[in-house]
Amino acid sequence: MTAEYTIEAIDLHKRFGRGDTATQALAGVSLAARPGTVLGVLGPNGAGKTTAVRILATLLRPDAGHATVCGHDIRRDAVSVRALTGLTGQYASVDEDLSGTENLVLIGRLLELSRPNAKARAAELLARFGLSDAAGRSAKTYSGGMRRRLDLAASLVGRPQVLYLDEPTTGLDPSSRNQVWDMVRDLVRDGVTVLLTTQYLDEADQLANRITVIDRGSVVAEGRPDELKRRTGGQTLQVRPTLASDIDAVARIMADLTGNAPAREDATGLLTTPIKDPVLIAAVVRKLDEAGITADELALRLPSLDEVFLSLTGHRATDEPSPDGDRADPAAGKRDEQPERSLV
Ligand SMILES: Nc1ncnc2c1ncn2[C@@H]1O[C@H](COP(=O)(O)OP(=O)(O)OP(=O)(O)O)[C@@H](O)[C@H]1O
Ligand SMILES: [Mg+2]
Repeated sequence: MTAEYTIEAIDLHKRFGRGDTATQALAGVSLAARPGTVLGVLGPNGAGKTTAVRILATLLRPDAGHATVCGHDIRRDAVSVRALTGLTGQYASVDEDLSGTENLVLIGRLLELSRPNAKARAAELLARFGLSDAAGRSAKTYSGGMRRRLDLAASLVGRPQVLYLDEPTTGLDPSSRNQVWDMVRDLVRDGVTVLLTTQYLDEADQLANRITVIDRGSVVAEGRPDELKRRTGGQTLQVRPTLASDIDAVARIMADLTGNAPAREDATGLLTTPIKDPVLIAAVVRKLDEAGITADELALRLPSLDEVFLSLTGHRATDEPSPDGDRADPAAGKRDEQPERSLV
């Protein structure tokens, strides 16, 4: 590899199954992460995120394309790739019957740490993840957030330089999510390169230095979060009239000045419209004043990543995939898979 990228994938293809029922999970995905950064891979259900991660973690072979991790080719040098990487899969994979400590010691032993070293590493990670008090309890007594943290700890036993986090906060409450985010930031501060998949646009916005947006197996956009937001063309004007009865009048003023009928949120009374020229905001203020209308909120902001996603793909990130047959049930026919847990 060039020293430029820690993770570099070029034109990855992967198809599952054959004939009419085949699913083209990846149709030419390229992505790259610089050392010590977070690459966010953003996409809706079935976009191909997990498939890309599994290929980069050497758990699945691509049909075509190539990739390197820390300069090691994922096909020719899978052993080196595994030694350098950690993976936290989409579904927690800790052994429920073992305690937190036992789970981590087991992994340390599989990684050929001596028993005292494996125990020391387990204790250190449990402390770091706020699990010391629960260390001796079997993982089945853990909450969802605790399991996720134990899972994350498990992927760090081998001190990976590269960490894949596949939807690490799906299903977590906001405070557990924040804890995971802080942990990711700590790891990056220590120089770890992170590839994080997510369906949460705010998560990518919070953590990622760069974002690759994939949809139906293809990259639809790539860039820094702020670049992606700007790409939808300009900013968004939001106005919330003080009196609900003024909504129609305000909507008319906004439509006259911007040429677009604003979106209305009736529950909150908020009117929103894209605006190409920020100078228009002064005209809006003037017109409202002339009409004797006051507003509780009048703001110009960059579009949210959700709006960016909509404009890039024609659907929201949270939409269900279209039932057009090529988006098979994710649980169906898991044939060419290797075991989920990467013990590295
Ligand atoms: N082992 C498999 N056998 C058959 N089809 C598969 C297999 N793994 C994934 N697929 C299909 O490939 C497509 C991409 O799946 P993938 O799991 O990579 O999506 P994802 O972006 O991770 O989605 P999610 O957000 O739901 O986790 C989907 O249509 C899925 O049904
Ligand atoms: Mg997935």
